[in-house]
Amino acid sequence: MCGITAYVGPRLCLPIVLDELKRLEYRGYDSAGVAAIEDGRVRVIKSVGKIKNLESLVDEANVQSTIGISHTRWATHGRPSTVNAHPHPDCKEEIAVVHNGIIENYMALKEWLISEGHRFRSETDTEVLAHLFEHFMKGNLEEAIREGLKKVHGSYAVAVVSSHFPEGIIVARKDSPLVVGVGEGEFYAASDIPALLPYTREVYLLEDGDMAVLTHDGVRLGRVNGSKVERSIYHVDWDLSAAEKGGYDHFMIKEIHEQPRTIRDTMRGRVTDDSKLNLSEIGLSAEQLNRFNRFYIVACGTAYHAGMVGKYFMEKHLRVPVEAALGSEFRYRDPIIDDKTLVIVVSQSGETADTLAALRDSKQKGATTLAVVNVVGSTIAREADHVLYTWAGPEICVASTKAYVTQLIALYLLGMHLATIKRTLSEPQIAEMVNAMRELPEKVEQHIAGQEEHIIEIARELCRHPAFFYLGRGMDWVTGMEGALKLKEIAYIYAEAFAAGELKHGPLALITGEVAVACVLTQSDLSDKMISNIKEVKAREGLILMVCREGDQNAASVADYMITIPSVTDAFMPVLAIIPLQLLAYYAAKELGCEIDQPRNLAKSVTVE
Ligand code: G6P
Repeated sequence: MCGITAYVGPRLCLPIVLDELKRLEYRGYDSAGVAAIEDGRVRVIKSVGKIKNLESLVDEANVQSTIGISHTRWATHGRPSTVNAHPHPDCKEEIAVVHNGIIENYMALKEWLISEGHRFRSETDTEVLAHLFEHFMKGNLEEAIREGLKKVHGSYAVAVVSSHFPEGIIVARKDSPLVVGVGEGEFYAASDIPALLPYTREVYLLEDGDMAVLTHDGVRLGRVNGSKVERSIYHVDWDLSAAEKGGYDHFMIKEIHEQPRTIRDTMRGRVTDDSKLNLSEIGLSAEQLNRFNRFYIVACGTAYHAGMVGKYFMEKHLRVPVEAALGSEFRYRDPIIDDKTLVIVVSQSGETADTLAALRDSKQKGATTLAVVNVVGSTIAREADHVLYTWAGPEICVASTKAYVTQLIALYLLGMHLATIKRTLSEPQIAEMVNAMRELPEKVEQHIAGQEEHIIEIARELCRHPAFFYLGRGMDWVTGMEGALKLKEIAYIYAEAFAAGELKHGPLALITGEVAVACVLTQSDLSDKMISNIKEVKAREGLILMVCREGDQNAASVADYMITIPSVTDAFMPVLAIIPLQLLAYYAAKELGCEIDQPRNLAKSVTVE
């Protein structure tokens, strides 16, 4: 986790690195710090809490420097505190390091460095880097960093300033994201592109093992192992306003409202006006696709829920085993993989450590890999054999909304494409599905316009219930899981989803009038069974919040509160059914005064295990 930024140029650096850092706050926000070169010496300022705390210290310090780095932290090794905040200096305070990632062998390195006489101040893994570079410093900082990094096992994106090299900043990456920005006589680095957008659109996407030296004269790229490398500049053509709040109170509600557009964007160019599919961009031939006899969909968090919907959809229409798996479990369980396996990894950020590790393991075991990913140029997008972008645009709120819905669309498209090739669905069946899919953006719009006020009322009335259960069957169960996750994440309400058929095997014992039970009922073939389960809850005084199709009289008859959604074919109902649950979580959190875009203890991009 964590975010880093760097600046070298004619202007004072600290206002710039702090401004960049604010756009990275979603990566972690328990403490923050800066380091700069002033009169040839290293100045470090850090503080616990959010970036605004640091900002006032920086204002007071009035540092006159044009070369600086910064860091926002999400604690892994060592609790959030000023001393554990980055940048970390060496013993003589001549070198300062910011780092995103995990140094896995830091204990051994620390013991060795202590035996060599180094004095440590923090509990972090990062501090070993500062002392390692100090240890190897024999007059050339670049060499010292190369030597130091050779000793390191684990992941890093690092930026280093030092009085040994007052002309600039050295950055390097391995298994953690880092981009270098090129402006007019000014040069930048950051954990991701949005941080740099107000300053430049020309970036180098560093690869694992790359190193860059940023000075007033320019950027020099190389490899940590000392070899030369050339990278071409990537021009960013997306708009910064797309990453700003645009008049809404929070990014989350803005992102919920963007969903009709993002669904259109995900479909653009992939479904044609004559109701056909075009997924040639993934670069898998019919011959290759026909060879696969086993599919895994691997992801974490919300992306895993999208994967579960994908599993239901693909298995039904492809008639091959499709398993949805959590990245954190998959990598350690020795799954059955061979060269006839397609591993689909789903990730918004494209940087989630467990998903990335699952991707790498799968490749190593001979599988073909396909990434369904949002962030262009992210590590997962680059390392997968094939990529299908979700085109949700930058998602800033930690709780994922628009990225989820676009992941669903991408997986449906993929499933239909595979079914076309495997001939498990006929052309008219595909055309019918494509037509249904094309109606989704308008139906989402219609639902939000018609029900948002009503959902605000329901959220107000229910948000003080201590627990929420979400019930559903089939794809509705998955929608319940995603709805429960949203409520936990941002409203801090205990919420759990249950497969409705499992109710009698335990959860029913927990039903009292205190528990709000959100029932998702959109899958027509499972409707009668669901109604029976809901009656069992009602008989125990559970309070029923029904989420069902417009005009469903049976559902209405057992509801205490009701939210209706427009109808579409069963397979695509998860796209519509999740919208009211996102809104419910948002308005409950707002009513309860929660922070929403940056929930406590969570981070947008989980780049550590
Ligand atoms: C974090 C985020 C979630 C996200 C999950 C997976 O937990 O808070 O919103 O679903 O990571 O992230 P990815 O970027 O791989 O989709």
